[in-house]
Amino acid sequence: MINQKLLEWFDQNKRNLPWRHGRNPYRVWISEIMLQQTQVKTVIPYFNKWMEKYPNLESLKNAKYDDIIKIWEGLGYYSRCKNIYSAVQKITTSFPKTYEELVSLPGIGDYTAKTILAIAYNNQAVGIDTNLERIGYRQLGLKAKSKRNQQRVINFLEKNQSKDRPGDYNEALMDLGSSLCKAYTTFCKQCPIKSSCKAFKSSSPTKYPTPKISKKLPTYDIAVSVIKFDNRVLISKRENTKFLSGLWEFPGGKIEKNESAEIAIIRELKEETNLNIKTPTYLGSIKHQYSHFGVNIALFISYPKSISNLSIKQDYKWIQIDDIDKYALPKANHKMLDILRKLD
Ligand code: ADE
Repeated sequence: MINQKLLEWFDQNKRNLPWRHGRNPYRVWISEIMLQQTQVKTVIPYFNKWMEKYPNLESLKNAKYDDIIKIWEGLGYYSRCKNIYSAVQKITTSFPKTYEELVSLPGIGDYTAKTILAIAYNNQAVGIDTNLERIGYRQLGLKAKSKRNQQRVINFLEKNQSKDRPGDYNEALMDLGSSLCKAYTTFCKQCPIKSSCKAFKSSSPTKYPTPKISKKLPTYDIAVSVIKFDNRVLISKRENTKFLSGLWEFPGGKIEKNESAEIAIIRELKEETNLNIKTPTYLGSIKHQYSHFGVNIALFISYPKSISNLSIKQDYKWIQIDDIDKYALPKANHKMLDILRKLD
C-alpha cells in the first residue's frame, strides 16, 4: 500500500492552499471548478475574492449572473462560471452528497464528483485528474494510453485509498504530481513512493505514460471596432452559447479570406449593428492566446454621424469608457483598452 508513505509525506510537505482551510462541500466544489485547466497560483486570488463575496451556497443563490462573472473575469473557460450558476439554481435544499446527485449537476463530471466525495465527505472515492493518472501509469510501469491501462490505474489508485484519511490521500497525490512527479521533470530521489514505482526502476520515468504529440492550435484574424457616439462607446454581450459566453465586448468578427481588415470591420459592423461606417480609423493590433485558439485582432475606432439605424440582436449598452471596469470582458479586450487609453 502506498497510502501510509504518501500521507506521511503529505503531513510534511502539503501546500498551504485557501480551499484546504474550512473544508466544506461548497468550498471544495468552487475550488475544483476553478482549478480545472488552471494553475493553482492563478486560482488562489480568484478563490479568495469569490469566498469573500459568496462565502456559502445561500449567498450564491441570491447573486446575479453579471456579478458572479465579474469575479470570474480573466480566469477563462467561462462556461465553468455559467455551470456553477445553473447548478446553484438546481440545488434546492442542501449540497448534494451522493455521486449520482453530484454528476447530475452542470459542470460536475466524474473527476469533480469523486474529488468532492473524498475531500469534503471523507468518502472512499478517488478523483483522478492528469496528475494522479500520471502517477498511476508510472507506479504500474504502463506506457501506452489505453482504456485497459486507464482501468488498471483507476483500480490501483482506488485500492490504495486510505480508510481514515481519503481526502488527504487524494490531495497528497495531487501535490506529489505537481511537485515531484511532474510530466516533464521528476524528482525521484525525494519521492515517498519510489520503491514501488516501476517507472523509477526504468530510470526514464518521463516516458510513462508516452507523451502526447501536441496539436498546433488555430489562429484567427479578427477585426474589432470601438464605436464612439456622443462620448459613449458601444459594448455588446456575447451570446450564452458561444466561447467566452456572457462577457461584454466591442463589436467585430472574423476577417474572411482575401478580405482586408478594413473591409471586414465595415462588413461586420453592418451585420452586427446595422450601422453604415464608411471610414473606420485603424488604431493598432493585438495578439492573444486563448485556451483553444489564438487571435490576431486589428482594432479600429469609428465615429458614426447618426445611430438611428442601430439594430443589435444581443444585449448592448452605450457606456462611458471610464465605466468599462464594471463589466466583465475577455482578456484580449483589456489589451484593446490599453491602446484606447494611449489615444487621450
Ligand atoms: N488541483 C485540483 N484540485 C486541487 C486541490 N484540491 N489542491 C491542489 N491542486 C488541485
